[in-house]
Amino acid sequence: MMQMTEISQVGVDSLWHPIAQHSNFKKAPPMHIVKGEGAMLTDQHGKQYLDAIAGIWCVNVGYGREELAQVAYEQMKNLAYLSPTMSHEPAVRLAEKLLSLVDMNGHVYFSCSGSEANEAAFKMVWQYHQQSGEPNGYLRKKIISRYRAYHGNTMAAISATGQAERKIGFAMQAPQFRHINPPYPYRRHPKLTPEEHGEQVAQELEQTIIYEGAETVAAFIMEPMISGGGVLIPPDNYIPAVREICDKYGVLLIFDEVVSGFGRTGKMLGHHHWSAKPDIMTCAKGIASGYQPIAATVVNDKIFNAFMGDPSDLTHFRHINTYGAHPVSAAVALRNIEIIEREGLVGNSAKMGGYMREQFDQLVEHPNVGEVRSKGLLFGIELVANKETKEALDPALVNKVIGVTKENGVLIGKNGNTIPGLCNVLVLSPTLTVTQSEGDQIVEAIEAGLKAII
Ligand SMILES: Cc1ncc(COP(=O)(O)O)c(C=O)c1O
Repeated sequence: MMQMTEISQVGVDSLWHPIAQHSNFKKAPPMHIVKGEGAMLTDQHGKQYLDAIAGIWCVNVGYGREELAQVAYEQMKNLAYLSPTMSHEPAVRLAEKLLSLVDMNGHVYFSCSGSEANEAAFKMVWQYHQQSGEPNGYLRKKIISRYRAYHGNTMAAISATGQAERKIGFAMQAPQFRHINPPYPYRRHPKLTPEEHGEQVAQELEQTIIYEGAETVAAFIMEPMISGGGVLIPPDNYIPAVREICDKYGVLLIFDEVVSGFGRTGKMLGHHHWSAKPDIMTCAKGIASGYQPIAATVVNDKIFNAFMGDPSDLTHFRHINTYGAHPVSAAVALRNIEIIEREGLVGNSAKMGGYMREQFDQLVEHPNVGEVRSKGLLFGIELVANKETKEALDPALVNKVIGVTKENGVLIGKNGNTIPGLCNVLVLSPTLTVTQSEGDQIVEAIEAGLKAII
């Protein structure tokens, strides 16, 4: 049998890691992890790290939950797989649970990743408009999304993504996608208040719909708060204004809750911070805390009903995922949501988010901390070279902060390979179980990282 060190070396030779320049691994191989427990990861040398990004914003209930392993075991024994053309209890119960969380009469389509959930949403939107009964509804093909947002790596989802560095050089821009600015209060026009800025960017949506020809616009997709693109929190008037504009022009509104869902922002769902509801919600990641791959596209019945037709025609949704509504994934997701509710993790996210934010706010004294942004346990710390001009910090220095934070035992991320010249935001999303002492440990490690660049 191979020893652990050999396995990690073979890993460098055979595993192709995402968003990584492999030539860097000649100097330092990627982290090789042997165990996860709570918020902690242990590498092959026994060194422990506090994972303050919870995997990729997903391990909401923390690592090492035996209860979830047990649920998976029981489900595998009982019914390991079922074609999603059939029905089983975990999928039905999970669908009901999701609809109740969104407070929606509708239906849920399951897939395995956030990208697939968004891809399904786009196809539903296109087909819906052909079948909705609206005269010339078939013209509605354009999907508007926002710069800085990430919506996934599949053909349509990457086209909706507004991050140039994830797209440059790939011949994969579907023609129907248009991009507009998201709210970015930190870099707003200095004469505008945050609310005026929120109003201005909402008007950009309306203007784009009008300029494109409202009758050609199918949907607007947005994360309630942009996560991987640099943690951008909208002013409170933005999302209600967006809902109104979408209603005014018959444009469907999709909330991508892949990151912001399941307690991450101090509410069960990110959009619960505002009164506006989506027509479609997509979710993944925290739905099963990463214990199983599962994602959902939740649609209201206005949309679903347009797919009811004659059995002999093509009005049904002609789309399938072999592993959609996977029984093991659905059972684990259900129990994961139960744990989030039972242990009050949404409340802890709000409480610890507030506590950590107070500590982080003190870092604004640092010459390179331009702004700290947060909602619950979703944090972004924007690093700048100059606070007056807001010029982004040199990427080598951003990496140095992350490296020294890691040397101090805490893993954080950045908005890497997203916006040319603006990959300068440290990002954090600790497990929702985070304690005060873990919160302190995270803040202290980042402080040490920041001190290293003065
Ligand atoms: C907001 C958002 N949407 C969609 C996705 C795509 O999810 P997946 O990587 O599961 O395909 C991600 C992934 O990070 C995301 O952050």
